[in-house]
Amino acid sequence: MLPYTLIEKKQSGQALNKDEIHFLVDGYVKKTIPEYQMAAFLMAVYFKGMEAEEINAYIDVILNSGKRVSFNDSTTYYADKHSTGGVGDKISLILAPLAMASGKVKVPMISGRGLGHSGGTLDKLESIPGFSTQMSLKDFQKQTDRLGCALIGQTKDLCPADKMLYALRDVTATVRSIPLICGSILSKKIAEGIKGLVLDVKTGNGAFISKYEETKHLAEQLKYFGEAYGLSVRPVISDMNQPLGDKIGNWLEVEESLDVLKGGGPAAVRELSLVLTGQMLAMADPKRAEGDIRKELEKLLDSGAAYDAFLRVSKEQGADIRYLEKTELYDRSKYIIEVKSASEGTISYIDTYQLGLDAIVLGAGRRSLNDTIDPKAGLVVHKHLGDKVEKGEPLITLHSDDKKAVELLSKEIGDRFHVSEDNFTMKGDLYEIL
Ligand code: URA
Repeated sequence: MLPYTLIEKKQSGQALNKDEIHFLVDGYVKKTIPEYQMAAFLMAVYFKGMEAEEINAYIDVILNSGKRVSFNDSTTYYADKHSTGGVGDKISLILAPLAMASGKVKVPMISGRGLGHSGGTLDKLESIPGFSTQMSLKDFQKQTDRLGCALIGQTKDLCPADKMLYALRDVTATVRSIPLICGSILSKKIAEGIKGLVLDVKTGNGAFISKYEETKHLAEQLKYFGEAYGLSVRPVISDMNQPLGDKIGNWLEVEESLDVLKGGGPAAVRELSLVLTGQMLAMADPKRAEGDIRKELEKLLDSGAAYDAFLRVSKEQGADIRYLEKTELYDRSKYIIEVKSASEGTISYIDTYQLGLDAIVLGAGRRSLNDTIDPKAGLVVHKHLGDKVEKGEPLITLHSDDKKAVELLSKEIGDRFHVSEDNFTMKGDLYEIL
């Protein structure tokens, strides 16, 4: 088989068979197929899509590029949640310890790094001094069983193909593709050995798949292919027409998660955390009333039990938890600049995608494969959709060590917010459970 011919085949819209997909992905992992040919293949998939058989083969080859976890205890409900990616989406940092604190499920979570304009759970966790997201499969299993939760990234053992493809898609603008998203998310989740998967499928201008009908299709595809592998899958479509919560950027999002874990934080972040964790517990115990589950989860946040669980997992994974207990110990960016509104009215539109890119420019994400990130960098949003704003009131604050980036962005970032003179009301709910 020749990679060139397979790229051409996909480029012309034909379906590849299982052997061909395995040849390409395995070859990429073994480095017999170079990055430029894999990038060309991904771009061809981006434009031409994949048929069901191809998606199955693509999930299969990524999954089998590494090992699979399998838990022996059939009485425990192992579950996880994954998001299709958004801006300011820090829910995993809250959901995992919250679910763990309930004692009703165990969460073996494999997450990814920042992708395109969206942040990644791994980068957020690694912004905590000492936190290690790498461990052997055995330790991953042991910690999940002992503590109720473990938080790691793809490794050389677990979905190494996704680790490589993910990084390549990140820098080649090939993230917005339903088959590639299905392969990436489902391979990681199937490898975890879980029974139940809650999916936060983002829709809106800050999501990878922005149009509602396409998002719904993605949610259905994730459910269909996940169930084909024996997972119970519950997709929740949630709104990404504005950043989730106030903070965007790795450490800034850890700080906001700590607030929510202690019973405070922005209402939207708390609400979505409760909804998604609630769905997870409902999957584990379908007979239980959803109202009871919600009350229990609220109590776990308000009592600090979820926060304690996060400290326990962080400590176990090497973190210096003094920074979590006293966030003021953490370094701050050299430049912290507030940008004010040039007019008065109501916030009627926020260019969430662009804010995600702006955070990268400030240092919070990668621009190329080997770029390093500045964990302190990011944005704090002061106004959300439907908020009233006066002329001269702060819209957003930039955090960065990069003087040039701050100078450039402070001139244009105000334009990401549309201020209208009319009243504006948010349409629809924050989420929809499918
Ligand atoms: N999250 C993932 O893990 N993979 C994707 O492709 C998109 C979001």
